[in-house]
Amino acid sequence: MRVAVTGGTGFIGGHLAACLARRGHDLVLIARGVDRSDHGLRLVAGSALVHASVIDGSRLRDAFAGCDAVFHLAGITAPRGAQTFEAVHVAGTAAAVEAARAVGVPRFAMVSSRFAAPDAPHPLFETKWRAEEIVRDAGIEHTILRSAAVYGRGDHVVNAVARAVTTRTVYPLDLRRRLLRPLAVADLVTVLAASLDDSRLVRSTVTVEGPDEVAVADLVRVVAMALRRKPVCVRVPRWLHPFDRGAIPVMVDGSAPPTALPTATATLPADLAPRIRFTVGAIVDSLPSPAARPAAVV
Ligand SMILES: NC(=O)c1ccc[n+]([C@@H]2O[C@H](COP(=O)([O-])OP(=O)(O)OC[C@H]3O[C@@H](n4cnc5c(N)ncnc54)[C@H](OP(=O)(O)O)[C@@H]3O)[C@@H](O)[C@H]2O)c1
Repeated sequence: MRVAVTGGTGFIGGHLAACLARRGHDLVLIARGVDRSDHGLRLVAGSALVHASVIDGSRLRDAFAGCDAVFHLAGITAPRGAQTFEAVHVAGTAAAVEAARAVGVPRFAMVSSRFAAPDAPHPLFETKWRAEEIVRDAGIEHTILRSAAVYGRGDHVVNAVARAVTTRTVYPLDLRRRLLRPLAVADLVTVLAASLDDSRLVRSTVTVEGPDEVAVADLVRVVAMALRRKPVCVRVPRWLHPFDRGAIPVMVDGSAPPTALPTATATLPADLAPRIRFTVGAIVDSLPSPAARPAAVV
């Protein structure tokens, strides 16, 4: 199959592209080409990279032409200039759906957040909700995966915590006790790849979460164990949180479980249920090699 992936150069997009390439699919990866933080994930043989914004409908139509499926993964966690949540998540999703329909792409899958909701406390999750609604209302053969925070090589959660516990001896935690179900990127990619041809996932919105429920404090502890560190964790009010701009990203800290799930939400088929446990071993696999890690502050 010929498959387009918006955000195909990002963390999840890179892992998905590698999986689809291994299965013999031809890939069109679409991104502006701005994020160049981990080139290792992007060198997927046999893929074409199209430098375009998801807001540019005509570039998307050209990129999607002849494709059998679109995976829509382009997204942001912080606004910057014209890259607002409204522009990338809402207008970008509307443009992607429209372009897929215009050139007759039969399958459309999107990664949303488990915390997307109309009354979400952070605009990231509120705009993700509106993006979901655009896809659900478009009348296309779609799959929406409402994902928990995802970890793996090149991620934005475990690696951010790892940087913090490597360079600091004190780790500040929010006063609120937030529970998470971290999802291994390999498990998410398995479900995404299945959505290409598994009829059980057509016209469905499903929540995808890891098998283990962990508090943020436990997540920090497991990451620290993987790095053989022993940070002192202290609970401080959010306004005193010195790592607010980095250590625990908005995917974790700005999120809250939605008060009501979308009516369309279905249960993930049991054989596709995530299985990778949140263990020290899984975390070690998510981290750069020791030589590539930041030096500890002594
Ligand atoms: N990571 C998680 O824990 C998690 C959890 C739930 C849901 N999700 C969702 O999954 C998707 C992928 O997440 P990720 O962690 O892989 O994100 P990521 O690593 O930040 O990658 C984002 C990708 O989107 C591209 N992008 C950003 N703005 C764009 C634009 N205007 N036009 C085209 N491409 C654009 C980026 O490339 P350029 O910047 O070069 O354009 C990059 O390829 C996102 O939609 C995110 O909301 C992620």
